[in-house]
Amino acid sequence: MRAMFAAILAAFLNLPGPSQAQEAVKVGLLLPLTGPFAPTGRQIEAGARLYLAQHGNTVAGKKIELIVRDDGNVADNTKRIAQELVVNEKVAILAGFGLTPLALATAPISAEAKVPQVIMGAATAIIPDRSPYIVRTSMVTSQITVGIADWAPKNGIKRLVTLVTDYAPGVDIEKAFSERFKASGGEVIEQIRVPLANPDFAPFLQRVADAKPDALFVFVPAGVGANFMRQFVERGLDKSGIRLIGTGDMTDDDILNQIGDVALGLTTSHHYSAAHPSALNKSFVEAFKKANNMRPNFMGVGGYDGMALIVKALEKTRGSTNGDELVAAMKGMAWESPRGPISIDPATRDIVQNIYVRKVERVGGELYNVEFATFEAVKKP
Ligand code: PHB
Repeated sequence: MRAMFAAILAAFLNLPGPSQAQEAVKVGLLLPLTGPFAPTGRQIEAGARLYLAQHGNTVAGKKIELIVRDDGNVADNTKRIAQELVVNEKVAILAGFGLTPLALATAPISAEAKVPQVIMGAATAIIPDRSPYIVRTSMVTSQITVGIADWAPKNGIKRLVTLVTDYAPGVDIEKAFSERFKASGGEVIEQIRVPLANPDFAPFLQRVADAKPDALFVFVPAGVGANFMRQFVERGLDKSGIRLIGTGDMTDDDILNQIGDVALGLTTSHHYSAAHPSALNKSFVEAFKKANNMRPNFMGVGGYDGMALIVKALEKTRGSTNGDELVAAMKGMAWESPRGPISIDPATRDIVQNIYVRKVERVGGELYNVEFATFEAVKKP
Protein backbone atom coordinates (compact mmCIF):
# COMPACT_ATOMS: atom_id res chain seq x y z
CA MET A 1 0.00 0.00 0.00
CA ARG A 2 2.71 2.43 1.05
CA ALA A 3 4.84 1.59 -1.98
CA MET A 4 1.82 2.14 -4.22
CA PHE A 5 1.08 5.45 -2.57
CA ALA A 6 4.72 6.51 -2.97
CA ALA A 7 4.66 5.50 -6.64
CA ILE A 8 1.45 7.44 -7.31
CA LEU A 9 2.82 10.45 -5.47
CA ALA A 10 6.10 10.22 -7.38
CA ALA A 11 4.25 10.00 -10.70
CA PHE A 12 2.05 12.95 -9.69
CA LEU A 13 5.04 15.07 -8.76
CA ASN A 14 6.95 13.79 -11.81
CA LEU A 15 9.74 12.58 -9.54
CA PRO A 16 11.77 9.43 -10.03
CA GLY A 17 9.83 6.45 -8.63
CA PRO A 18 11.35 3.93 -6.23
CA SER A 19 12.73 1.71 -8.99
CA GLN A 20 14.49 4.57 -10.77
CA ALA A 21 15.82 5.95 -7.51
CA GLN A 22 17.67 2.64 -6.99
CA GLU A 23 19.30 2.94 -10.42
CA ALA A 24 19.22 -0.81 -10.92
CA VAL A 25 19.68 -2.61 -14.22
CA LYS A 26 17.51 -5.70 -14.07
CA VAL A 27 18.71 -8.81 -15.86
CA GLY A 28 16.26 -11.71 -16.15
CA LEU A 29 17.98 -15.09 -16.02
CA LEU A 30 15.65 -17.78 -17.36
CA LEU A 31 16.88 -21.31 -16.77
CA PRO A 32 15.82 -24.92 -16.29
CA LEU A 33 16.39 -25.25 -12.53
CA THR A 34 14.14 -28.28 -12.05
CA GLY A 35 13.73 -31.45 -14.12
CA PRO A 36 16.34 -33.44 -16.06
CA PHE A 37 18.21 -30.35 -17.30
CA ALA A 38 18.47 -28.67 -13.89
CA PRO A 39 22.28 -29.20 -13.89
CA THR A 40 22.48 -26.97 -16.99
CA GLY A 41 20.57 -24.20 -15.22
CA ARG A 42 22.66 -24.59 -12.08
CA GLN A 43 25.89 -24.28 -14.04
CA ILE A 44 24.78 -21.19 -15.98
CA GLU A 45 23.48 -19.43 -12.87
CA ALA A 46 26.69 -20.24 -10.96
CA GLY A 47 28.81 -18.89 -13.82
CA ALA A 48 26.81 -15.66 -14.10
CA ARG A 49 26.92 -15.07 -10.34
CA LEU A 50 30.65 -15.78 -10.17
CA TYR A 51 31.39 -13.12 -12.79
CA LEU A 52 29.49 -10.51 -10.77
CA ALA A 53 31.11 -11.65 -7.51
CA GLN A 54 34.58 -11.28 -9.04
CA HIS A 55 34.05 -8.05 -10.96
CA GLY A 56 31.53 -6.20 -8.81
CA ASN A 57 27.86 -5.75 -9.65
CA THR A 58 27.87 -2.01 -10.26
CA VAL A 59 28.32 -0.52 -13.74
CA ALA A 60 28.25 3.20 -14.50
CA GLY A 61 26.75 3.80 -11.05
CA LYS A 62 23.95 1.29 -11.60
CA LYS A 63 23.56 -1.93 -9.69
CA ILE A 64 23.01 -5.08 -11.74
CA GLU A 65 20.10 -6.98 -10.26
CA LEU A 66 19.72 -10.60 -11.34
CA ILE A 67 16.19 -11.97 -11.40
CA VAL A 68 16.50 -15.76 -11.67
CA ARG A 69 13.46 -17.78 -12.79
CA ASP A 70 12.99 -21.52 -13.31
CA ASP A 71 11.27 -22.51 -16.56
CA GLY A 72 11.53 -26.26 -15.88
CA ASN A 73 12.70 -26.71 -19.51
CA VAL A 74 9.18 -25.97 -20.83
CA ALA A 75 9.32 -23.51 -23.74
CA ASP A 76 5.85 -22.05 -23.04
CA ASN A 77 6.99 -21.27 -19.49
CA THR A 78 10.12 -19.53 -20.73
CA LYS A 79 8.09 -17.36 -23.08
CA ARG A 80 5.50 -16.48 -20.42
CA ILE A 81 8.18 -15.66 -17.84
CA ALA A 82 10.11 -13.55 -20.38
CA GLN A 83 6.97 -11.58 -21.17
CA GLU A 84 6.24 -11.03 -17.50
CA LEU A 85 9.81 -9.94 -16.79
CA VAL A 86 9.77 -7.45 -19.66
CA VAL A 87 6.32 -6.01 -18.94
CA ASN A 88 6.15 -6.08 -15.13
CA GLU A 89 9.75 -6.11 -13.97
CA LYS A 90 11.03 -3.94 -16.83
CA VAL A 91 14.17 -6.07 -17.23
CA ALA A 92 16.75 -4.49 -19.52
CA ILE A 93 18.18 -7.83 -20.65
CA LEU A 94 16.91 -11.40 -20.94
CA ALA A 95 19.58 -14.07 -20.47
CA GLY A 96 20.10 -17.78 -19.85
CA PHE A 97 18.38 -20.25 -22.25
CA GLY A 98 19.93 -23.62 -21.56
CA LEU A 99 18.23 -25.42 -24.46
CA THR A 100 17.28 -24.46 -28.00
CA PRO A 101 13.45 -24.61 -27.70
CA LEU A 102 13.62 -22.20 -24.75
CA ALA A 103 15.72 -19.70 -26.71
CA LEU A 104 13.49 -19.92 -29.79
CA ALA A 105 10.27 -19.45 -27.79
CA THR A 106 11.60 -16.19 -26.34
CA ALA A 107 12.96 -14.70 -29.57
CA PRO A 108 9.66 -13.01 -30.59
CA ILE A 109 9.52 -11.24 -27.21
CA SER A 110 13.06 -9.92 -27.48
CA ALA A 111 12.42 -8.81 -31.09
CA GLU A 112 9.17 -7.04 -30.28
CA ALA A 113 10.28 -5.43 -27.01
CA LYS A 114 13.76 -4.62 -28.41
CA VAL A 115 15.32 -6.26 -25.37
CA PRO A 116 18.72 -7.96 -25.76
CA GLN A 117 18.54 -11.76 -25.33
CA VAL A 118 21.87 -13.29 -24.34
CA ILE A 119 22.06 -17.03 -25.12
CA MET A 120 24.32 -18.71 -22.57
CA GLY A 121 23.58 -22.38 -23.30
CA ALA A 122 21.65 -23.24 -26.48
CA ALA A 123 23.56 -24.10 -29.66
CA THR A 124 21.30 -24.43 -32.74
CA ALA A 125 22.71 -22.37 -35.60
CA ILE A 126 19.57 -20.40 -36.52
CA ILE A 127 18.84 -18.99 -33.04
CA PRO A 128 20.35 -15.50 -33.55
CA ASP A 129 18.45 -15.15 -36.85
CA ARG A 130 15.17 -15.18 -34.93
CA SER A 131 15.67 -11.78 -33.29
CA PRO A 132 18.08 -8.93 -34.05
CA TYR A 133 18.51 -8.57 -30.27
CA ILE A 134 19.94 -12.08 -29.76
CA VAL A 135 23.66 -12.40 -28.97
CA ARG A 136 25.28 -15.75 -28.11
CA THR A 137 28.09 -16.67 -25.69
CA SER A 138 27.65 -20.47 -25.69
CA MET A 139 28.54 -22.33 -28.88
CA VAL A 140 27.22 -23.14 -32.36
CA THR A 141 26.36 -26.67 -33.46
CA SER A 142 28.47 -26.49 -36.64
CA GLN A 143 31.42 -25.08 -34.67
CA ILE A 144 31.79 -27.90 -32.15
CA THR A 145 31.89 -30.65 -34.81
CA VAL A 146 34.84 -29.05 -36.60
CA GLY A 147 37.74 -30.69 -34.77
CA ILE A 148 36.46 -34.23 -34.44
CA ALA A 149 35.21 -34.50 -38.04
CA ASP A 150 38.75 -33.70 -39.21
CA TRP A 151 40.52 -35.86 -36.64
CA ALA A 152 38.53 -39.08 -37.17
CA PRO A 153 39.47 -39.98 -40.79
CA LYS A 154 43.12 -39.26 -40.04
CA ASN A 155 42.98 -41.71 -37.14
CA GLY A 156 41.73 -44.88 -38.76
CA ILE A 157 37.98 -44.14 -38.70
CA LYS A 158 36.45 -44.65 -42.15
CA ARG A 159 33.00 -46.27 -41.69
CA LEU A 160 30.91 -44.56 -39.06
CA VAL A 161 27.42 -44.41 -37.51
CA THR A 162 26.07 -41.15 -36.06
CA LEU A 163 23.76 -41.08 -33.04
CA VAL A 164 22.21 -37.75 -32.01
CA THR A 165 19.42 -36.52 -29.77
CA ASP A 166 16.38 -35.89 -31.96
CA TYR A 167 15.81 -32.15 -31.71
CA ALA A 168 17.17 -29.07 -33.46
CA PRO A 169 20.80 -29.06 -32.22
CA GLY A 170 21.13 -32.83 -32.75
CA VAL A 171 19.82 -32.59 -36.30
CA ASP A 172 22.20 -29.66 -36.97
CA ILE A 173 25.16 -31.57 -35.58
CA GLU A 174 24.33 -34.75 -37.51
CA LYS A 175 24.40 -32.73 -40.74
CA ALA A 176 27.45 -30.58 -39.96
CA PHE A 177 29.53 -33.51 -38.74
CA SER A 178 28.53 -35.86 -41.58
CA GLU A 179 29.29 -33.30 -44.32
CA ARG A 180 32.72 -32.52 -42.94
CA PHE A 181 33.55 -36.16 -42.17
CA LYS A 182 32.62 -37.20 -45.73
CA ALA A 183 34.62 -34.33 -47.21
CA SER A 184 37.64 -35.68 -45.29
CA GLY A 185 37.16 -39.13 -46.85
CA GLY A 186 34.88 -40.84 -44.34
CA GLU A 187 31.68 -42.82 -44.96
CA VAL A 188 28.52 -42.47 -42.82
CA ILE A 189 26.73 -45.84 -42.98
CA GLU A 190 23.79 -45.12 -40.67
CA GLN A 191 22.25 -42.12 -38.89
CA ILE A 192 20.32 -42.74 -35.68
CA ARG A 193 18.19 -40.23 -33.76
CA VAL A 194 17.21 -40.79 -30.13
CA PRO A 195 14.33 -39.01 -28.30
CA LEU A 196 15.16 -36.07 -26.03
CA ALA A 197 12.83 -37.06 -23.19
CA ASN A 198 13.90 -40.03 -21.03
CA PRO A 199 16.01 -41.72 -23.70
CA ASP A 200 16.43 -45.48 -23.57
CA PHE A 201 19.54 -46.03 -25.67
CA ALA A 202 19.40 -49.84 -25.66
CA PRO A 203 17.52 -50.49 -28.94
CA PHE A 204 19.61 -47.86 -30.73
CA LEU A 205 22.85 -49.31 -29.41
CA GLN A 206 21.79 -52.72 -30.72
CA ARG A 207 21.54 -51.19 -34.19
CA VAL A 208 25.03 -49.80 -33.78
CA ALA A 209 26.38 -53.21 -32.73
CA ASP A 210 24.75 -54.83 -35.79
CA ALA A 211 26.17 -52.22 -38.21
CA LYS A 212 29.75 -52.88 -36.98
CA PRO A 213 31.20 -49.47 -37.90
CA ASP A 214 34.77 -48.39 -37.09
CA ALA A 215 33.30 -45.79 -34.77
CA LEU A 216 30.15 -44.29 -33.34
CA PHE A 217 29.82 -40.49 -33.31
CA VAL A 218 27.56 -39.19 -30.53
CA PHE A 219 25.85 -35.94 -29.66
CA VAL A 220 23.73 -35.82 -26.51
CA PRO A 221 23.02 -32.54 -24.66
CA ALA A 222 24.86 -31.65 -21.43
CA GLY A 223 24.04 -34.00 -18.55
CA VAL A 224 22.85 -36.95 -20.67
CA GLY A 225 26.31 -38.42 -21.33
CA ALA A 226 26.45 -40.39 -18.07
CA ASN A 227 23.23 -42.28 -18.86
CA PHE A 228 24.40 -42.89 -22.41
CA MET A 229 27.78 -44.23 -21.31
CA ARG A 230 26.20 -46.54 -18.71
CA GLN A 231 24.04 -48.16 -21.40
CA PHE A 232 26.98 -48.27 -23.82
CA VAL A 233 28.86 -50.38 -21.27
CA GLU A 234 25.79 -52.47 -20.28
CA ARG A 235 25.39 -53.46 -23.95
CA GLY A 236 29.05 -54.48 -24.08
CA LEU A 237 29.87 -51.90 -26.74
CA ASP A 238 32.97 -50.78 -24.86
CA LYS A 239 34.44 -54.23 -25.64
CA SER A 240 33.13 -54.47 -29.22
CA GLY A 241 36.05 -52.70 -30.89
CA ILE A 242 33.67 -49.93 -32.03
CA ARG A 243 35.37 -46.66 -31.12
CA LEU A 244 33.40 -43.84 -29.57
CA ILE A 245 33.81 -40.17 -30.54
CA GLY A 246 31.60 -37.11 -30.28
CA THR A 247 31.21 -33.49 -29.37
CA GLY A 248 32.34 -32.62 -25.86
CA ASP A 249 28.73 -32.46 -24.67
CA MET A 250 29.00 -36.22 -24.03
CA THR A 251 32.01 -35.89 -21.69
CA ASP A 252 30.94 -32.65 -20.01
CA ASP A 253 33.02 -31.68 -17.00
CA ASP A 254 30.03 -31.81 -14.66
CA ILE A 255 29.58 -35.58 -15.12
CA LEU A 256 32.96 -36.82 -16.34
CA ASN A 257 34.14 -38.25 -13.01
CA GLN A 258 30.75 -39.89 -12.57
CA ILE A 259 31.10 -41.64 -15.96
CA GLY A 260 34.30 -43.18 -14.66
CA ASP A 261 37.18 -45.02 -16.28
CA VAL A 262 35.23 -46.19 -19.36
CA ALA A 263 35.58 -42.59 -20.52
CA LEU A 264 39.39 -42.84 -20.60
CA GLY A 265 40.65 -42.24 -24.13
CA LEU A 266 37.36 -40.81 -25.48
CA THR A 267 38.17 -38.20 -28.12
CA THR A 268 35.81 -35.27 -28.64
CA SER A 269 35.87 -31.69 -29.89
CA HIS A 270 34.52 -28.74 -27.97
CA HIS A 271 35.15 -25.15 -26.95
CA TYR A 272 35.73 -25.64 -23.21
CA SER A 273 37.55 -27.98 -20.88
CA ALA A 274 38.06 -27.39 -17.16
CA ALA A 275 41.62 -28.53 -17.90
CA HIS A 276 42.24 -25.70 -20.41
CA PRO A 277 45.82 -24.66 -19.62
CA SER A 278 45.58 -20.91 -19.03
CA ALA A 279 46.13 -18.85 -15.89
CA LEU A 280 42.65 -17.33 -16.23
CA ASN A 281 41.03 -20.76 -16.45
CA LYS A 282 42.93 -22.08 -13.46
CA SER A 283 41.71 -19.24 -11.26
CA PHE A 284 38.18 -19.50 -12.75
CA VAL A 285 37.94 -23.24 -11.99
CA GLU A 286 39.26 -22.72 -8.46
CA ALA A 287 36.83 -19.90 -7.68
CA PHE A 288 33.90 -21.76 -9.25
CA LYS A 289 34.60 -24.89 -7.20
CA LYS A 290 35.01 -22.87 -4.01
CA ALA A 291 31.69 -21.07 -4.51
CA ASN A 292 29.64 -24.03 -5.75
CA ASN A 293 31.34 -27.23 -4.70
CA MET A 294 31.32 -28.49 -8.30
CA ARG A 295 33.53 -28.32 -11.37
CA PRO A 296 32.47 -25.82 -14.06
CA ASN A 297 31.45 -27.24 -17.42
CA PHE A 298 30.85 -25.45 -20.73
CA MET A 299 27.44 -24.23 -19.52
CA GLY A 300 29.08 -22.61 -16.49
CA VAL A 301 31.49 -20.82 -18.82
CA GLY A 302 28.63 -19.75 -21.12
CA GLY A 303 26.96 -18.10 -18.11
CA TYR A 304 30.22 -16.50 -16.92
CA ASP A 305 31.02 -15.07 -20.35
CA GLY A 306 27.41 -14.03 -20.96
CA MET A 307 27.50 -11.94 -17.79
CA ALA A 308 30.90 -10.56 -18.86
CA LEU A 309 29.33 -9.50 -22.16
CA ILE A 310 26.43 -7.78 -20.37
CA VAL A 311 28.73 -5.89 -17.99
CA LYS A 312 31.14 -4.85 -20.76
CA ALA A 313 28.26 -3.66 -22.96
CA LEU A 314 26.80 -1.59 -20.10
CA GLU A 315 30.24 -0.06 -19.53
CA LYS A 316 30.37 0.90 -23.20
CA THR A 317 26.89 2.46 -23.19
CA ARG A 318 27.73 4.19 -19.86
CA GLY A 319 24.78 2.49 -18.25
CA SER A 320 22.24 3.09 -21.02
CA THR A 321 19.86 0.12 -21.28
CA ASN A 322 18.55 1.00 -24.72
CA GLY A 323 18.37 -2.35 -26.58
CA ASP A 324 19.83 -1.04 -29.84
CA GLU A 325 22.74 0.62 -28.05
CA LEU A 326 23.46 -2.50 -26.00
CA VAL A 327 23.47 -4.83 -29.02
CA ALA A 328 25.65 -2.37 -30.97
CA ALA A 329 28.08 -2.40 -28.02
CA MET A 330 28.12 -6.20 -27.93
CA LYS A 331 28.89 -6.57 -31.65
CA GLY A 332 32.60 -7.05 -32.21
CA MET A 333 33.38 -7.28 -28.48
CA ALA A 334 36.50 -9.40 -27.92
CA TRP A 335 37.98 -10.62 -24.64
CA GLU A 336 39.70 -13.51 -22.92
CA SER A 337 37.42 -16.21 -21.53
CA PRO A 338 38.43 -19.18 -19.37
CA ARG A 339 38.00 -21.17 -22.62
CA GLY A 340 40.51 -18.96 -24.53
CA PRO A 341 40.09 -15.88 -26.75
CA ILE A 342 36.49 -15.16 -27.82
CA SER A 343 34.62 -12.47 -29.71
CA ILE A 344 31.13 -11.64 -30.98
CA ASP A 345 30.92 -11.68 -34.77
CA PRO A 346 29.34 -8.31 -35.65
CA ALA A 347 27.67 -9.83 -38.73
CA THR A 348 25.93 -12.77 -37.03
CA ARG A 349 25.97 -11.79 -33.30
CA ASP A 350 27.32 -15.28 -32.74
CA ILE A 351 30.39 -16.34 -30.80
CA VAL A 352 33.77 -16.82 -32.49
CA GLN A 353 36.01 -19.15 -30.52
CA ASN A 354 38.72 -21.80 -30.61
CA ILE A 355 37.63 -25.41 -30.93
CA TYR A 356 39.86 -27.97 -29.25
CA VAL A 357 40.27 -31.67 -29.90
CA ARG A 358 40.58 -33.41 -26.53
CA LYS A 359 41.10 -36.83 -25.03
CA VAL A 360 39.88 -38.02 -21.63
CA GLU A 361 42.83 -38.66 -19.33
CA ARG A 362 43.40 -39.09 -15.63
CA VAL A 363 45.08 -36.03 -14.16
CA GLY A 364 45.81 -35.91 -10.42
CA GLY A 365 43.29 -38.66 -9.66
CA GLU A 366 40.42 -37.11 -11.66
CA LEU A 367 39.20 -37.40 -15.24
CA TYR A 368 39.65 -34.43 -17.58
CA ASN A 369 39.25 -33.61 -21.26
CA VAL A 370 42.88 -32.85 -22.10
CA GLU A 371 43.20 -30.59 -25.16
CA PHE A 372 45.77 -31.64 -27.79
CA ALA A 373 44.86 -29.74 -30.98
CA THR A 374 43.34 -26.32 -31.65
CA PHE A 375 41.25 -24.91 -34.50
CA GLU A 376 41.54 -21.17 -34.00
CA ALA A 377 38.77 -18.56 -34.07
CA VAL A 378 36.09 -20.78 -35.63
CA LYS A 379 33.15 -18.75 -36.98
CA LYS A 380 29.67 -19.84 -37.88
CA PRO A 381 29.94 -20.40 -41.65
C1 PHB B 1 20.64 -27.02 -27.07
O1 PHB B 1 19.49 -27.33 -26.71
O2 PHB B 1 20.84 -26.18 -27.96
C2 PHB B 1 21.79 -27.68 -26.43
C3 PHB B 1 21.73 -28.02 -25.08
C4 PHB B 1 22.80 -28.68 -24.48
C5 PHB B 1 23.92 -28.99 -25.23
C6 PHB B 1 24.00 -28.66 -26.57
C7 PHB B 1 22.93 -28.01 -27.18
O3 PHB B 1 24.95 -29.64 -24.65
